[in-house]
Amino acid sequence: MGNKAELHYDGEVYELPVITGTENENALDISKLRGQSGLITLDRGFKNTGSCKSSITFLNGEEGILRYRGYSIEELAEKSTFLEVAFLLIYSELPTKEELDNFVNEISTHSLVHEDVKSILDGFPSKSHPMGVLSSLVSSLTAFYPKSLDPNRSKEEINGTIIRAIAKLPTLAAWSFKNRMRQPVIYPDNQLGYCENFIRMMFSLPTVAYEVNPVIADALDKLLILHADHEQNCSTSTVRIVGSSHASLYTSVSSGIAALWGPLHGGANQAVIEMLEEIKEDGGDIDKYVAKAKDKSDPFRLMGFGHRVYKNFDPRATIIKKAADDVLDELGINDPVLDIAKKLEKVALNDTYFKERGLYPNVDFYSGIIYRALGIPTDMFTVMFALGRLPGWIAQWKEMRENHEPIGRPRQVYTGSSARQYVSIENR
Ligand code: SDX
Repeated sequence: MGNKAELHYDGEVYELPVITGTENENALDISKLRGQSGLITLDRGFKNTGSCKSSITFLNGEEGILRYRGYSIEELAEKSTFLEVAFLLIYSELPTKEELDNFVNEISTHSLVHEDVKSILDGFPSKSHPMGVLSSLVSSLTAFYPKSLDPNRSKEEINGTIIRAIAKLPTLAAWSFKNRMRQPVIYPDNQLGYCENFIRMMFSLPTVAYEVNPVIADALDKLLILHADHEQNCSTSTVRIVGSSHASLYTSVSSGIAALWGPLHGGANQAVIEMLEEIKEDGGDIDKYVAKAKDKSDPFRLMGFGHRVYKNFDPRATIIKKAADDVLDELGINDPVLDIAKKLEKVALNDTYFKERGLYPNVDFYSGIIYRALGIPTDMFTVMFALGRLPGWIAQWKEMRENHEPIGRPRQVYTGSSARQYVSIENR
């Protein structure tokens, strides 16, 4: 729109272009700042820094808006399916029936992984956290599909790598869990839907017949939609920066899984349940834990509260909270931890400390309660987040490659020693 800003520095005036996004967000383009003025910017945690232009997902933190390719999360969660949302994120448009049928069929027929994955799995101790196993197994796909190492191959070959990633992640995730349980792995059944197949690989055993509960499969499909993308969050930025070195999709996704694992990010869903369990074991004293969260001398934080972007409410949390009620009702489960979560939310939302800082329940606050109701063990919660986030990581990696983004290499402000001479050890 031809907007610009002026920077007055050291007696000079520098003009910096201002670019405006589809939803009228404005950004100062500093691409030429250092060349013009010798200045760089410093922005710890990139709280005010955009890393790219993207047409995939739009967030408005003040109004609690989340859209994938322009479609609201509320509509997609209610009317779409996870694989349809994956298609939308990766290929930019909702698929026709024929396109979706082909996409689903492609994914179904690539769900099996190489038999040698079992040898890699056997190398992990049984107590291995499934996120560490999953990140390694995803990276190992480069060994079975060496052509995927070259991200500059044909569009068709790149698409084959994308299909394999989506098709095989549920199998690798379920096998990571079976390793944790020291149970035999269950092979995928191509006749089943995406979520049904995963649930069956997770919970069935070779010795007993297993029927997937459709309530659980539907709830999981909705949860995966809600986690599918979230613009430039920590793990997605990791996938982009690793991919910007022309590393393969599989290694970029493996890095994203590692970043997601942190308790301040995707690992929060496991930390929320552990926190709620601690409060329950401690007699359910909500006020004590809210006070701890506000006490600067106490490292305790209310896990599942707060967000870098959402300063009013996380629209996903609203949807998940209702889904938690519905799923527990439908499954006839009464989980005291859900009651503690609701009390905690009520107390915090009426407390000025949280209101002043825009700290509201985020996507992780209620998701663990549903996963638990679905019979998914706590240390698999973040694996569920990774399953959901995969299409977003893929879409963002693909956009970064198609836009020929340069390798990511931030600058710094050096605060160490000035030049000094080496001193021999006798004279130190
Ligand atoms: C996800 O980015 C994304 O989009 C992520 C995600 C996605 O879909 O990819 O939405 C998924 O990661 C959700 C967030 C999950 N994490 C948690 O629930 C962990 C608990 N929350 C926080 O640690 C924190 O809120 C973050 C990490 C989520 C956001 O941190 P910021 O933006 O860096 O904010 P901050 O740490 O600077 O906090 C601002 C103030 C500080 O207090 P003051 O210095 O102003 O006095 O708020 C306080 C913080 O101490 N604060 C909290 C708090 N979160 C922030 N105080 C108590 N409990 C909390 N949870």
